[in-house]
Amino acid sequence: MQKTIIITGGAGFIGSHVVREFVKKYPHYRIINIDALTYAGNLENLRDIEREANYFFVKADITDAAHILSIFQEYQPDGVIHLAAESHVDRSITNPTAFVMTNVIGTVNLLNAAKEIWKDNYEGKRFHHVSTDEVFGALGDTGLFAEDTKYDPHSPYSASKASSDHFVRAYHDTYGLPIVLTNCSNNYGPNHFPEKLIPLCIHNILHGKPLPIYGDGKYTRDWLFVIDHAKAIDLVFHQGKNGDSYNVGGFNEWQNIDLVKELCKQMDEKLGRPAGTADQLITYVKDRPGHDLRYAIDASKINEELGYKPSVTFEQGLSITIDWFLNNEEWLNHVTSGDYRKYYEEQYR
Ligand SMILES: NC(=O)c1ccc[n+]([C@@H]2O[C@H](COP(=O)([O-])OP(=O)(O)OC[C@H]3O[C@@H](n4cnc5c(N)ncnc54)[C@H](O)[C@@H]3O)[C@@H](O)[C@H]2O)c1
Repeated sequence: MQKTIIITGGAGFIGSHVVREFVKKYPHYRIINIDALTYAGNLENLRDIEREANYFFVKADITDAAHILSIFQEYQPDGVIHLAAESHVDRSITNPTAFVMTNVIGTVNLLNAAKEIWKDNYEGKRFHHVSTDEVFGALGDTGLFAEDTKYDPHSPYSASKASSDHFVRAYHDTYGLPIVLTNCSNNYGPNHFPEKLIPLCIHNILHGKPLPIYGDGKYTRDWLFVIDHAKAIDLVFHQGKNGDSYNVGGFNEWQNIDLVKELCKQMDEKLGRPAGTADQLITYVKDRPGHDLRYAIDASKINEELGYKPSVTFEQGLSITIDWFLNNEEWLNHVTSGDYRKYYEEQYR
């Protein structure tokens, strides 16, 4: 094996796509997936690659500094791609402390472990921190987030991610740790946990349940297909400039209401229902506190420096996503029933 890479949060939505991308594309890399398997971790996401010779899973909580250090000492990684996080804004409003523990303390534990085993010999080493555009706060009707946009987080989730970004940069500035960061816009795609807008709406349209839209539906997000995010991470991990951050997006802004209407249209077509059927399920609900109006990424730097471009349009990505959910009802049923939590016990014990 040429390299050993630790990927944290590899059983989650985005992490599982990153693990798959690396396991398949780099058979000469040893990929170690570290995940605590919280409610968001689902090893069924990796069923298709879990028997590959270059893939290893270690159940560990990144808030446990001693355990993390022992894993780093055992596997001696050349690189870390850090995705493990508490990631759901609504949950951060009800339990902010959990977000500080995992997103801030957990990140610092990983930085310490990398610093400890690399011992100032940083040749060929890299710590890639995966972050979000939410650290930049909210935009008005115009403007885009660039890499140098001032941080202005509003939710406990984005505040914890902003803090972790600062620690990653501080370890670079203070100790010379080789780092890169990516700040990505909203992801969608296969394996998305059904508490999030797109899979929730797919599930609810299938079962004739209301489609909840916050406020007036004008909240605007910039959407990227999850596999395109995984490809961007691969590119930045290998070719990004040491110490730099890259905003990742597809110049693809949608107001929530327009997105849900596009989803309704595609679902009606795919399910053979009369046009307008799913639209009738749209229900406006009370707004979330501190809700940011608009996020939009300026992805020029990654495009110009590294030649990055998303591989699909939003309509194509949405169609692939809907097909995946329609063809993977077992996955969805296991997630909604909680049965996915038994998978680790059944497969790994
Ligand atoms: N989902 C998005 O749209 C989006 C956009 C930009 C950036 N991000 C970032 O990408 C990363 C992954 O996001 P996601 O949507 O896949 O999240 P997710 O919630 O689906 O997955 C998170 C994973 O981390 C694991 N985890 C949580 N706490 C842990 C802990 N203490 N120790 C070890 N593992 C732990 C969970 O078990 C899960 O497998 C996060 O850092 C998030 O901030 C997400």
